[in-house]
Amino acid sequence: MSRRMMLAGNWKMNKTISEAINLAVRLKYSCNSVNDRDIVLCPPYTSLKPVAETVKDSSIEVGAQNMHHQLSGPYTGEVSPEMITDAGADWVIIGHSERRQHFSEDNQLLHEKLATAAREEIKVIFCVGETEQQRDEGKVAEVLTSQLKETLSGLDHPDFVELVIAYEPVWAIGTGNTATPEQANQAHQLLRQVLADIFTAEIAGQIRILYGGSVKPHNAAQLLGQSDIDGALVGGASLAADDFTAIVKFDTEENISIVDF
Ligand code: 13P
Repeated sequence: MSRRMMLAGNWKMNKTISEAINLAVRLKYSCNSVNDRDIVLCPPYTSLKPVAETVKDSSIEVGAQNMHHQLSGPYTGEVSPEMITDAGADWVIIGHSERRQHFSEDNQLLHEKLATAAREEIKVIFCVGETEQQRDEGKVAEVLTSQLKETLSGLDHPDFVELVIAYEPVWAIGTGNTATPEQANQAHQLLRQVLADIFTAEIAGQIRILYGGSVKPHNAAQLLGQSDIDGALVGGASLAADDFTAIVKFDTEENISIVDF
């Protein structure tokens, strides 16, 4: 089963509008020869529309980092599914560990968000991953299984326009402590098995599973060369055009030349 490689940049709470446009312009040119892999940029809400407009005549797609599970209403400070698609987002990241940790998003809420994204036809990058303590206690399989089962059960895979899973071990995010390619691939294989239990083996074989957690230009090729790693969700290294371009082009000989704007 060959799955198309996907490289997504999660800019988190970084970049003003002008900085976001500048980065998007640079990536549009540096990645314009890439047509065999998907590229998704996930800026903060305020830059969704400017970034979507910047890349609209390229193959780069845009995603939001979160959304509310209700369609509208008295939810001060929240952003609805329609608002993000109206701003040009095709994708949404759901369940990032920073949202689980700092904003108390639990599996029940994430199930609602996944159901809403499916109904509203928004493509999903759904994040899972264990903490360092959970890994030390030997609970990786248990944690990853419950993160998928408690959120995806009751949803049919065909309900989604597209469902991508991102395995992001919490201990590897922003720490420079990347999972080894073997550790990551093992987790991906486990996730694929759980997806087969929830859906079918055939569907599980089609679902892309990205790795996230300190992916950098120097470690991308090794990680992305693993059998069950279908791409990367990149944080810090997605904020610099040359680093993200190098990750996008991880195994090509092409010289990386960044146009200066
Ligand atoms: P880093 O690449 O900065 O470790 O962040 C990973 C991440 O959280 C992407 O969603």
